[in-house]
Amino acid sequence: MKAEVFLTSSTVTEDDVKGRTVIVIDVLRASSTIATALNNWARAIVPVADTGSATKIASNLDQSGYLLGGERGGIKIQGYHLGNSPLEYTQEAIEGRTIIFTTTNGTVAISRARGAEHLIVGSFLNAQRVVDFVRQIGLDVTIICAGWRNRVSLEDTLCAGLLLHRLWDGREPDLVSDSAHIAFSQYVHDQHNLDAALRRSNQAQWLMANGYADDVDYCLQTDVLPVLPYYKENRLVLYKEYEQASVL
Ligand code: MLT
Repeated sequence: MKAEVFLTSSTVTEDDVKGRTVIVIDVLRASSTIATALNNWARAIVPVADTGSATKIASNLDQSGYLLGGERGGIKIQGYHLGNSPLEYTQEAIEGRTIIFTTTNGTVAISRARGAEHLIVGSFLNAQRVVDFVRQIGLDVTIICAGWRNRVSLEDTLCAGLLLHRLWDGREPDLVSDSAHIAFSQYVHDQHNLDAALRRSNQAQWLMANGYADDVDYCLQTDVLPVLPYYKENRLVLYKEYEQASVL
Protein backbone atom coordinates (compact mmCIF):
# COMPACT_ATOMS: atom_id res chain seq x y z
CA MET A 1 0.00 0.00 0.00
CA LYS A 2 1.42 3.37 -1.02
CA ALA A 3 0.86 6.46 1.12
CA GLU A 4 0.82 10.09 0.01
CA VAL A 5 0.41 13.18 2.17
CA PHE A 6 -0.79 16.67 1.29
CA LEU A 7 0.33 19.08 3.99
CA THR A 8 -2.44 21.49 2.95
CA SER A 9 -5.45 20.80 0.75
CA SER A 10 -4.84 23.71 -1.63
CA THR A 11 -3.34 21.72 -4.52
CA VAL A 12 -5.43 18.55 -4.27
CA THR A 13 -6.98 17.57 -7.62
CA GLU A 14 -9.46 14.87 -8.63
CA ASP A 15 -6.62 12.69 -9.94
CA ASP A 16 -4.91 12.82 -6.54
CA VAL A 17 -7.85 11.12 -4.81
CA LYS A 18 -9.32 8.87 -7.53
CA GLY A 19 -9.26 5.15 -6.66
CA ARG A 20 -7.72 5.77 -3.24
CA THR A 21 -8.69 5.77 0.39
CA VAL A 22 -8.48 9.40 1.48
CA ILE A 23 -8.22 10.61 5.07
CA VAL A 24 -8.97 14.29 5.73
CA ILE A 25 -7.47 15.65 8.95
CA ASP A 26 -8.29 18.91 10.70
CA VAL A 27 -7.35 18.21 14.32
CA LEU A 28 -8.22 21.74 15.58
CA ARG A 29 -11.08 21.39 15.21
CA ALA A 30 -13.29 20.32 12.29
CA SER A 31 -12.39 16.63 12.10
CA SER A 32 -12.49 16.25 15.89
CA THR A 33 -15.92 17.90 15.93
CA ILE A 34 -17.20 15.62 13.15
CA ALA A 35 -16.02 12.48 14.98
CA THR A 36 -17.60 13.74 18.22
CA ALA A 37 -20.92 14.59 16.57
CA LEU A 38 -21.24 11.13 15.03
CA ASN A 39 -20.19 9.50 18.30
CA ASN A 40 -23.04 11.44 19.95
CA TRP A 41 -25.54 10.13 17.40
CA ALA A 42 -25.89 12.96 14.95
CA ARG A 43 -27.78 11.44 12.03
CA ALA A 44 -25.29 12.81 9.49
CA ILE A 45 -22.95 15.72 8.83
CA VAL A 46 -23.27 17.49 5.50
CA PRO A 47 -19.87 19.15 4.96
CA VAL A 48 -19.96 22.19 2.69
CA ALA A 49 -17.21 24.57 1.68
CA ASP A 50 -19.15 27.84 1.93
CA THR A 51 -22.05 29.43 3.79
CA GLY A 52 -24.03 30.03 0.59
CA SER A 53 -24.22 26.27 -0.07
CA ALA A 54 -25.16 25.65 3.57
CA THR A 55 -28.10 28.06 3.31
CA LYS A 56 -29.23 26.50 0.05
CA ILE A 57 -29.18 22.95 1.45
CA ALA A 58 -30.98 24.08 4.62
CA SER A 59 -33.75 25.73 2.58
CA ASN A 60 -34.67 22.32 1.12
CA LEU A 61 -34.94 20.59 4.50
CA ASP A 62 -37.60 20.46 7.17
CA GLN A 63 -36.49 22.96 9.85
CA SER A 64 -36.90 20.50 12.72
CA GLY A 65 -34.49 17.99 11.18
CA TYR A 66 -31.27 19.95 10.77
CA LEU A 67 -28.86 22.20 12.60
CA LEU A 68 -26.41 24.63 11.05
CA GLY A 69 -22.91 24.34 12.50
CA GLY A 70 -19.54 25.91 11.78
CA GLU A 71 -17.16 28.81 12.07
CA ARG A 72 -15.23 31.42 10.18
CA GLY A 73 -11.88 32.43 11.63
CA GLY A 74 -12.65 30.18 14.62
CA ILE A 75 -15.83 32.07 15.60
CA LYS A 76 -19.37 30.68 15.35
CA ILE A 77 -21.16 31.95 12.24
CA GLN A 78 -23.91 34.45 13.03
CA GLY A 79 -27.35 32.83 13.08
CA TYR A 80 -25.98 29.28 13.25
CA HIS A 81 -27.15 26.87 15.94
CA LEU A 82 -23.66 25.60 16.72
CA GLY A 83 -20.06 26.73 16.29
CA ASN A 84 -17.06 24.44 15.79
CA SER A 85 -16.37 23.46 19.38
CA PRO A 86 -16.63 19.66 19.71
CA LEU A 87 -17.84 20.20 23.27
CA GLU A 88 -21.03 21.84 21.96
CA TYR A 89 -21.93 18.69 20.05
CA THR A 90 -23.39 16.79 23.01
CA GLN A 91 -25.86 13.97 22.59
CA GLU A 92 -28.55 16.19 24.05
CA ALA A 93 -27.90 18.90 21.46
CA ILE A 94 -27.59 16.82 18.31
CA GLU A 95 -28.95 13.27 18.59
CA GLY A 96 -30.93 12.35 15.48
CA ARG A 97 -30.22 15.67 13.75
CA THR A 98 -28.50 16.30 10.44
CA ILE A 99 -25.81 18.96 10.78
CA ILE A 100 -25.01 21.18 7.83
CA PHE A 101 -21.42 22.04 8.61
CA THR A 102 -19.04 24.62 7.15
CA THR A 103 -15.60 25.61 8.47
CA THR A 104 -12.69 27.74 7.30
CA ASN A 105 -10.40 24.89 6.26
CA GLY A 106 -11.73 21.46 7.24
CA THR A 107 -14.87 21.27 5.14
CA VAL A 108 -13.01 22.86 2.20
CA ALA A 109 -10.50 19.98 2.35
CA ILE A 110 -13.33 17.43 2.50
CA SER A 111 -15.02 18.94 -0.54
CA ARG A 112 -11.75 18.70 -2.51
CA ALA A 113 -11.59 14.97 -1.77
CA ARG A 114 -15.14 14.06 -2.77
CA GLY A 115 -13.99 11.94 -5.73
CA ALA A 116 -12.11 9.45 -3.53
CA GLU A 117 -12.95 5.74 -3.60
CA HIS A 118 -13.32 5.92 0.19
CA LEU A 119 -13.33 9.26 1.99
CA ILE A 120 -12.98 9.22 5.77
CA VAL A 121 -12.28 11.83 8.45
CA GLY A 122 -9.39 11.38 10.88
CA SER A 123 -8.21 13.00 14.09
CA PHE A 124 -6.25 11.98 17.17
CA LEU A 125 -9.58 11.06 18.77
CA ASN A 126 -10.31 8.25 16.29
CA ALA A 127 -6.79 7.50 15.02
CA GLN A 128 -6.76 3.73 15.53
CA ARG A 129 -10.21 3.31 13.95
CA VAL A 130 -8.87 5.11 10.87
CA VAL A 131 -5.74 2.93 10.71
CA ASP A 132 -7.81 -0.27 11.04
CA PHE A 133 -10.07 0.81 8.19
CA VAL A 134 -7.20 1.74 5.86
CA ARG A 135 -5.56 -1.64 6.52
CA GLN A 136 -8.82 -3.51 5.99
CA ILE A 137 -9.50 -1.80 2.64
CA GLY A 138 -5.91 -2.22 1.44
CA LEU A 139 -5.98 0.52 -1.23
CA ASP A 140 -3.29 3.19 -1.58
CA VAL A 141 -3.95 5.97 0.89
CA THR A 142 -3.82 9.74 0.60
CA ILE A 143 -3.80 11.82 3.76
CA ILE A 144 -4.99 15.40 3.30
CA CYS A 145 -4.14 17.84 6.08
CA ALA A 146 -6.56 20.77 6.08
CA GLY A 147 -3.92 23.21 7.35
CA TRP A 148 -4.82 26.85 7.82
CA ARG A 149 -5.63 29.05 4.82
CA ASN A 150 -3.17 27.24 2.51
CA ARG A 151 -0.48 27.06 5.19
CA VAL A 152 0.86 23.96 6.93
CA SER A 153 -0.48 23.21 10.43
CA LEU A 154 1.74 21.40 12.89
CA GLU A 155 -1.15 19.54 14.55
CA ASP A 156 -2.46 18.11 11.27
CA THR A 157 1.07 17.15 10.16
CA LEU A 158 1.70 15.37 13.47
CA CYS A 159 -1.59 13.49 13.22
CA ALA A 160 -0.69 12.42 9.65
CA GLY A 161 2.69 11.29 11.01
CA LEU A 162 1.07 9.24 13.76
CA LEU A 163 -1.20 7.50 11.24
CA LEU A 164 1.78 6.71 8.99
CA HIS A 165 3.80 5.48 11.98
CA ARG A 166 1.05 3.00 12.77
CA LEU A 167 0.40 2.01 9.14
CA TRP A 168 4.14 1.39 8.62
CA ASP A 169 4.57 -0.36 12.00
CA GLY A 170 7.04 2.31 13.09
CA ARG A 171 9.48 1.88 10.14
CA GLU A 172 9.51 4.26 7.23
CA PRO A 173 9.74 2.42 3.87
CA ASP A 174 12.80 3.16 1.70
CA LEU A 175 11.12 5.34 -0.89
CA VAL A 176 8.26 7.59 0.15
CA SER A 177 7.15 11.03 -0.98
CA ASP A 178 8.87 14.04 0.59
CA SER A 179 5.68 15.17 2.33
CA ALA A 180 5.05 11.71 3.81
CA HIS A 181 8.69 11.72 4.99
CA ILE A 182 8.23 15.16 6.60
CA ALA A 183 5.04 14.10 8.46
CA PHE A 184 6.56 10.81 9.63
CA SER A 185 9.84 12.43 10.71
CA GLN A 186 8.10 15.23 12.60
CA TYR A 187 6.02 12.67 14.48
CA VAL A 188 9.09 10.57 15.32
CA HIS A 189 10.81 13.74 16.53
CA ASP A 190 7.89 14.75 18.80
CA GLN A 191 6.30 11.43 19.70
CA HIS A 192 7.54 11.30 23.30
CA ASN A 193 6.52 14.89 23.90
CA LEU A 194 3.48 15.00 21.69
CA ASP A 195 1.13 16.98 23.90
CA ALA A 196 3.64 19.80 24.39
CA ALA A 197 4.49 19.87 20.68
CA LEU A 198 0.81 20.10 19.75
CA ARG A 199 0.15 22.90 22.23
CA ARG A 200 2.94 24.90 20.60
CA SER A 201 1.05 24.92 17.27
CA ASN A 202 -0.37 28.25 16.05
CA GLN A 203 -3.98 27.05 16.09
CA ALA A 204 -3.72 25.60 19.63
CA GLN A 205 -2.20 28.89 20.78
CA TRP A 206 -5.02 30.85 19.14
CA LEU A 207 -7.70 28.63 20.65
CA MET A 208 -6.16 28.80 24.14
CA ALA A 209 -5.90 32.60 23.94
CA ASN A 210 -9.51 32.97 22.81
CA GLY A 211 -11.40 30.93 25.39
CA TYR A 212 -11.21 27.49 23.77
CA ALA A 213 -8.58 25.82 25.99
CA ASP A 214 -11.04 23.00 26.79
CA ASP A 215 -11.36 22.25 23.08
CA VAL A 216 -7.59 21.90 22.83
CA ASP A 217 -7.47 19.53 25.82
CA TYR A 218 -10.25 17.48 24.29
CA CYS A 219 -8.96 17.31 20.70
CA LEU A 220 -5.44 16.26 21.74
CA GLN A 221 -6.61 12.97 23.28
CA THR A 222 -5.69 9.88 21.27
CA ASP A 223 -7.91 6.86 20.53
CA VAL A 224 -10.86 7.80 22.70
CA LEU A 225 -13.58 7.60 19.99
CA PRO A 226 -14.00 4.32 18.11
CA VAL A 227 -15.93 5.99 15.27
CA LEU A 228 -15.23 6.30 11.57
CA PRO A 229 -16.89 9.22 9.74
CA TYR A 230 -17.44 7.91 6.19
CA TYR A 231 -18.51 10.04 3.22
CA LYS A 232 -21.48 8.65 1.36
CA GLU A 233 -24.00 10.45 -0.84
CA ASN A 234 -22.76 13.95 0.05
CA ARG A 235 -22.81 13.36 3.79
CA LEU A 236 -20.62 11.93 6.50
CA VAL A 237 -22.16 9.03 8.39
CA LEU A 238 -20.88 6.41 10.77
CA TYR A 239 -19.22 3.61 8.85
CA LYS A 240 -20.72 0.35 9.92
CA GLU A 241 -19.00 -2.98 9.54
CA TYR A 242 -22.24 -4.63 8.48
CA GLU A 243 -22.39 -2.34 5.44
CA GLN A 244 -18.91 -3.49 4.44
CA ALA A 245 -20.11 -5.72 1.62
CA SER A 246 -21.83 -2.84 -0.15
CA VAL A 247 -18.92 -0.43 0.43
CA LEU A 248 -16.14 -2.71 -0.81
C1 MLT B 1 -11.23 24.89 10.30
O1 MLT B 1 -11.92 24.14 9.61
O2 MLT B 1 -10.59 25.80 9.80
C2 MLT B 1 -11.05 24.73 11.79
O3 MLT B 1 -11.62 23.63 12.26
C3 MLT B 1 -11.05 26.02 12.52
C4 MLT B 1 -11.51 25.98 13.98
O4 MLT B 1 -10.75 25.61 14.86
O5 MLT B 1 -12.65 26.33 14.27
